Amino acid sequence: MRAVVPSVVLPLLLTAATAPATPLGQRFLATSASAALTASSSTSAAATRVTLDSTNYVDHGLVAFGRIPNTAVDSYGESLGGLGSAIAVESFITGKDGSFRGTIRLQPDRGHNQGGLATSDYRARSHVFNLSFRPLRANAKTPASENLKLTYKSTLLYKKGFNYTTGLDPDAVGSGEPPLPTASFDNHLTVDAEGLVSLDPFLFISDEYGPYIYAVEKATGQIIGTLQPPAALVPVKGGKTNFSALSDPDTGRAANKGFEGLTLDRTTSTLWALLQEATVQDGGSDKTTSRYARLLGYKLDLSNVVAFIQSNPQPKPTHEYVVELPRSKKGNTRGASELHIIGDGHFLVLVRDGNGFGDTDSDSVYKQAALVSIKKATDIAGSKYDSASTPVAPNGNLFSDVRPASVKDFVDLVDPKQLAKFGLHTGGDFNSNLIASKLESLALISTGDRKNPHDYFLFVVSDNDFITRQGKQAGQVDGKGKYVLASYSDPYAEKYSPQDTQAFVYR
Ligand SMILES: *[C@@H]1O[C@H](CO)[C@@H](O)[C@H](O)[C@H]1NC(C)=O
Ligand SMILES: *[C@@H]1O[C@H](CO)[C@@H](O)[C@H](O)[C@H]1NC(C)=O
Ligand SMILES: *[C@@H]1O[C@H](CO)[C@@H](O)[C@H](O)[C@H]1NC(C)=O
Repeated sequence: MRAVVPSVVLPLLLTAATAPATPLGQRFLATSASAALTASSSTSAAATRVTLDSTNYVDHGLVAFGRIPNTAVDSYGESLGGLGSAIAVESFITGKDGSFRGTIRLQPDRGHNQGGLATSDYRARSHVFNLSFRPLRANAKTPASENLKLTYKSTLLYKKGFNYTTGLDPDAVGSGEPPLPTASFDNHLTVDAEGLVSLDPFLFISDEYGPYIYAVEKATGQIIGTLQPPAALVPVKGGKTNFSALSDPDTGRAANKGFEGLTLDRTTSTLWALLQEATVQDGGSDKTTSRYARLLGYKLDLSNVVAFIQSNPQPKPTHEYVVELPRSKKGNTRGASELHIIGDGHFLVLVRDGNGFGDTDSDSVYKQAALVSIKKATDIAGSKYDSASTPVAPNGNLFSDVRPASVKDFVDLVDPKQLAKFGLHTGGDFNSNLIASKLESLALISTGDRKNPHDYFLFVVSDNDFITRQGKQAGQVDGKGKYVLASYSDPYAEKYSPQDTQAFVYR
């Protein structure tokens, strides 16, 4: 598989996850804070309360934790890694004994970085796991033992026509409308999957390269349609579409800063996609000017997804907002790793630093499932800002007549008190209980408590970047369609420690 390694070094593989389904409803702990607070017997009294547009939200803290070992493999014999790039809870039921179980789909991004530096010929896919847990009680003795069990069930490989996809850098542009990110190595579609919505019998996935949204048939893995965003987001270099993520384009999404977030609001039939950071023309090439990220909303007919994804000309966003992402003390943008609908113009967005397990600095200080409101934001859909030549935030300065969507901190994912419930920590030693650097996915699911209909579980899963010493990954040696399984040992795993996938449940 070394044959496929490009000579250019990728500075950072920023990947993320996306948005799962909330089959039981869209609201999250809405309306009455006190009602929600008294509702839960199983969580700490020290709840965090946040009000957004007069809706009260309450975070009752971490109630379950589990992991998928870094050594685990899927049914193709390949390492189960990168899992928390995107998640979707596909079924969920309450047991009589106060336990919960269901199934969750986990979607990796673009495979192991060969030698920690370059992309690989990884076939895009998603995995289904059984899950079960009994929430930790408020008075439980801590550190408690891990109480979230994830059991591997199956894998779905995605295909475009007869060919699998690849994770290799898209150094070519496929013909057709819209043009597809393609690897010259094998002429396959190249996908760096980051967002996920499960809508039977389809999946919607969002990607970093295009940045595109694809519809996948669940039964076969076949990609049946492609949605290209407005010109403002499509990467263009020297006047030509250029999907390579080895360097920034002149305009469009910055390299490795595509659609990290994808979520479906079933009440309004709107599919939402969020860029990780600003487009290049909006200041996206520099961490200090990249905070104004585009959020696109597509209204679709849920009963005819095929017509939507295959329509020609391409559907245009029905809504478009600019999300003002938070910044670090040094003024660096906290990029968005995931988006999940709450309902009524509110979302959760996963924003974070890059520290923790997987980074060289173990001390993570900021990882949030933050709240976003578009209620007072300016809708720029169909405006001049959809063209690449008219930035909405030149050099990172948003035009004053455009009101951004606000972000408000909510669930602190690196709160040492919460992590300590399961013996986890931020900072200090690189051991298996160090919080992952890349928490990249969110899913909300109703607890099913009829007395407290706004009570939800929030799932968060990490992307371990396939950091293991016992790695297995398949790729083509010659690009002619024969996949060969090969072993690898990740240099970071050797220097620090292998990294399990971590899965958290908050209430
Ligand atoms: C998943 O859960 C279902 C329902 O509880 C069960 O029938 C099935 O055997 C489980 N599969 C695995 C692989 O554990
Ligand atoms: C894309 O841009 C890179 C870097 O400038 C360049 O090397 C490559 O040839 C371009 N690819 C295409 C398909 O034009
Ligand atoms: C499918 O892959 C083969 C190589 O495995 C390549 O020659 C062919 O062009 C690809 N076809 C399409 C439509 O991508």
